[in-house]
Amino acid sequence: MIRPTAAYKNLGEFVDALERAGELRRVRRTVSAHLEISRLTDAESKSPQGGKALYFEKVAGSPFPAATNLFGSPRRIGMALGVTHLDQLGERVRSLMEIAPPGSFRDMLGLLPTALSVTRFFPRRFRGKTPPCQEVVHTGTEVDLGQLPVLHCWPKDAGPFVTLPLVFTRSLKTGVRNVGMYRLQVFDRHTTGMHWHIHKDGSNYYNEYRRAGRRMPVAVAIGADPATIYAATAPLPRNLDEMMLAGFIRNRPVTMTRCLTVDMDVPAEAEFVLEGYVDPDEQRIEGPFGDHTGYYSLADAYPVFHVTAVTHRRRPLYCATLVGRPPMEDCYLAKATERLFLPLLQAAFPEIEDYWLPWEGVFHNIVIVSIDKAYPLHAQQIMSGLWGQGQMSFCKIIVVVDRDVNPQDPAQVIAKLLTQLDVSADLTHTQGVLDVLDHSSPTPIHGSKLGVDLTARVPGETPRGMPNAPADPTPAPEKLEAQVAARIPGVVGLRIFPDRPAIETDTTPLLMVKVLKPGDRAGRDYARQLLDLEALAAFRLILLFDVAIDLYDNSLVLWKLFNNTDPGRDIHFDDDRCVVDACRKDTSDGHLREWPEELTFDV
Ligand SMILES: Cc1cc2nc3c(=O)[nH]c(=O)nc-3n(C[C@H](O)[C@H](O)[C@H](O)COP(=O)(O)O)c2cc1C
Repeated sequence: MIRPTAAYKNLGEFVDALERAGELRRVRRTVSAHLEISRLTDAESKSPQGGKALYFEKVAGSPFPAATNLFGSPRRIGMALGVTHLDQLGERVRSLMEIAPPGSFRDMLGLLPTALSVTRFFPRRFRGKTPPCQEVVHTGTEVDLGQLPVLHCWPKDAGPFVTLPLVFTRSLKTGVRNVGMYRLQVFDRHTTGMHWHIHKDGSNYYNEYRRAGRRMPVAVAIGADPATIYAATAPLPRNLDEMMLAGFIRNRPVTMTRCLTVDMDVPAEAEFVLEGYVDPDEQRIEGPFGDHTGYYSLADAYPVFHVTAVTHRRRPLYCATLVGRPPMEDCYLAKATERLFLPLLQAAFPEIEDYWLPWEGVFHNIVIVSIDKAYPLHAQQIMSGLWGQGQMSFCKIIVVVDRDVNPQDPAQVIAKLLTQLDVSADLTHTQGVLDVLDHSSPTPIHGSKLGVDLTARVPGETPRGMPNAPADPTPAPEKLEAQVAARIPGVVGLRIFPDRPAIETDTTPLLMVKVLKPGDRAGRDYARQLLDLEALAAFRLILLFDVAIDLYDNSLVLWKLFNNTDPGRDIHFDDDRCVVDACRKDTSDGHLREWPEELTFDV
């Protein structure tokens, strides 16, 4: 059994370890929390391998230092969670399962508290005189959130947001604790927004208090040991305390202490704690906020958090994250979840070999899963299963491949797409819940979903239609572009993929097309024209993009495709060919709600 190589007592120990490992860069000059820290963090996150963690020693207007990008590289997330490779997290969970094999996914997740409660991972109570997180206490009129170096992250954000908070709540019905990471917009000295999405556990508990007409006690820790911070982001089922997961990852229990003004427990070693309550009847507009999709999430009504006390260590470190177009720090937190949860998923679906959430899909848009296929429509069964499973149910697109394809290798997956896909037979359309941050669906938080079956057919399944052979040789892109542009006004560029003529004879290249989309020109109009054009008859899959997109930037193209496509509305078929419209949508496309702006510092 793999044991964690390190369990940090608190954030300070982790930061020291990062510094010793050459993983942390100090910024000694005074910086501003208004856009400057976020610009520096953005540049750092986008540098090779996630750059370094940043430690800002002096932040204008605040007595406290701030740190960002603490988890933002393969090495740092490994250090944070005490492993050299994230797969070791999954292996540890698997060892636990071997001790007491669960009968189902739920049992497996139920096993965590059962196993952990009888071991030394169950949270402990602080026994000393003054817990570190309460060395300094501000209550009543002394509470001033303006003292904290809270980041104003992106130019069009509605204000400063606490971006790495651990929000502690308790079920009114069961008394079970929940810890979730939900951003907090600072409204004034002592109130913030409480941005728990409707599908999340914090929101569910909030509804219990609303129904009972009671104030909800809430405590927020900012900065804790890294496993505890990670645990707040983990999609554990409701009624399962994330502090036990933190104890398991650390191989050491989290020490908790009672808050001073609310009946809640928080990690005793936290850097800052905000104590307070949420009123069941009060809501306020929160956002916009530059989100991890790479777009601004839209303003909406959310509960308000009233802060009754701010407590902190004598020399606390404020920690924050900057989210935006991937890759950013949250990609590494999500990767940890992907690896930790693989054995749990396999407990429910033993045929799953592996899976991958590419960061261009921002974790709710696409998952690629490989299975040991045994019978007809096995792939479709897995799709249905995953769409019913916890936060995986938010996922818009599920691609299923056979076990001999590595789902984490884009080249292998794309090769299957180009050699196998029969769009008249391999696509499954359904409806379901969507992540609050999805902007492609005409309806918020629910909409259409797509399953893509790239597995080989087995006896009993209808064989695929033979793919059309590509024009031989594949036309030069420049020549084809001139031909298409002459026939379809508004076409301004194209790319044939793969770029070099395919070596495998059974590969059908796909076509990417850039179009001008003034308000009166819907994607479906272009789609019809493209599908009717004789010169394009060999292309079975055509992707439409906005004019500003560099079609040769693979990551950009995939990010747009996964974020902007509503499978029910934006895939236009003609027998065994289709056009997928990955452009920005407007009323001409039947998209009546607001389309969010892309994040940029250049305004
Ligand atoms: C940096 C970061 C910020 C996040 N912000 C939010 C947020 O504002 N609202 C939300 O509902 N989920 C947010 N999430 C995702 C949740 O933390 C995640 O879904 C978690 O599993 C929720 O916990 P719960 O299942 O206990 O509700 C964020 C995740 C990260 C990594």
